[in-house]
Amino acid sequence: MQYHSGRHFLQIPGPTNVPDRILHAMSYPTIDHRGPDFQALGERVLEGIKPIFGTRNPVIIFPGSGTGAWEAALVNTLDPGDAVLMFETGHFATLWQNMAEKLGFQPELIDGDWRHGADPEAIEKALREDSDHRIKAVAVVHNETSTGVTSRIPAIRKAIDNAGHPALLLVDTISSLGSIRYEHDAWGVDVTVAGSQKGLMLPPGLGFNAVSDKALAAAERSSQPRSYWDWRDMLGPNAKGFFPYTPATNLLYGLREAIDMLNEEGLEHVFARHDRHAEATRRAVRAWGFEVVCANDEEYSSSLTAVLVPESVDPDALRRRILQDFDMSLGAGLSKLAGRVFRIGHLGDFNDLTLMGTLSGVEMGLKRAGIDHTSGGAQAALDYLADQQ
Ligand SMILES: Cc1ncc(COP(=O)(O)O)c(C=O)c1O
Repeated sequence: MQYHSGRHFLQIPGPTNVPDRILHAMSYPTIDHRGPDFQALGERVLEGIKPIFGTRNPVIIFPGSGTGAWEAALVNTLDPGDAVLMFETGHFATLWQNMAEKLGFQPELIDGDWRHGADPEAIEKALREDSDHRIKAVAVVHNETSTGVTSRIPAIRKAIDNAGHPALLLVDTISSLGSIRYEHDAWGVDVTVAGSQKGLMLPPGLGFNAVSDKALAAAERSSQPRSYWDWRDMLGPNAKGFFPYTPATNLLYGLREAIDMLNEEGLEHVFARHDRHAEATRRAVRAWGFEVVCANDEEYSSSLTAVLVPESVDPDALRRRILQDFDMSLGAGLSKLAGRVFRIGHLGDFNDLTLMGTLSGVEMGLKRAGIDHTSGGAQAALDYLADQQ
């Protein structure tokens, strides 16, 4: 393998660059997960994570990936064969729908064009038509990582209320939590699904469910078979800082550090920083002469930008060249968007200079790969960042 000096730029939209503070925090010896030191750690992270979700209710932390947390959201709140309304925002919404089907639920998918977020009007219409309340949950992806499009969760909550429908609202924030404004309680969300490896700046390995009282009541009633993901088994031990099985102790050390870091910066500042880097990235993309995938300026993602390239351009060859020459990883186009886009992750432990390094790497890659573009995208971003404090 070729040696690269300096630090790798991990600019896929998650996993993100894990800061040294978190790597160091995770390097402490693993402790007895039934002992008093663990209890203090457990209490600290289980309490400290709540404001990151914008909730006062329990947040359940599983050793597992985001996919596991998706499953937990479904199997705790639904009964066998229940209908769940989903919206095709992109690759991840489609995967969640496939999972619902495999688990024996009945997903009803509203088609989307992969350039817009979930449409609140279409959701309201589908719920109004469901007069006998067959649909038990509406499940949407807040930030569709395959397209760089966010869905307007408060508008979707309003759509459910306007329809007078009792469905639960389940939201995937795997690539938005800790990067893009999100309020589990204030937005009336019933289950928020998240993962450790994006805005929380941790390695992969933790999955989260923030839960409303209504979701907890549904979990008490649900007859869906479940074991590992059962919230009920978690909540008792969690109340005392413990877990029902061996937890991912060293990731929890990292989580404690991540919570401290987000609080030291201040969540408002974290969100503003991501918004600003996303705007600078879009300016660069447009200056190069490319289009961003997101077609609605109210739905731009602040954690990643998916860049649509002309049909004559192979974005994967560009990514390979950038990896080889500049040691930077960018995200590939997924499923429908394979070969049509590349994705720039600008989330997590990131600042103006890391953004400029990222965009410079893309621009140098475009030149080296001989891709027709206009120079000056990095300069456009630089001018924007320099003018904005
Ligand atoms: C929006 C979204 N949902 C779900 C997932 C799946 O999460 P994981 O890969 O951690 O299982 C991802 C992963 O990138 C994602 O971005």
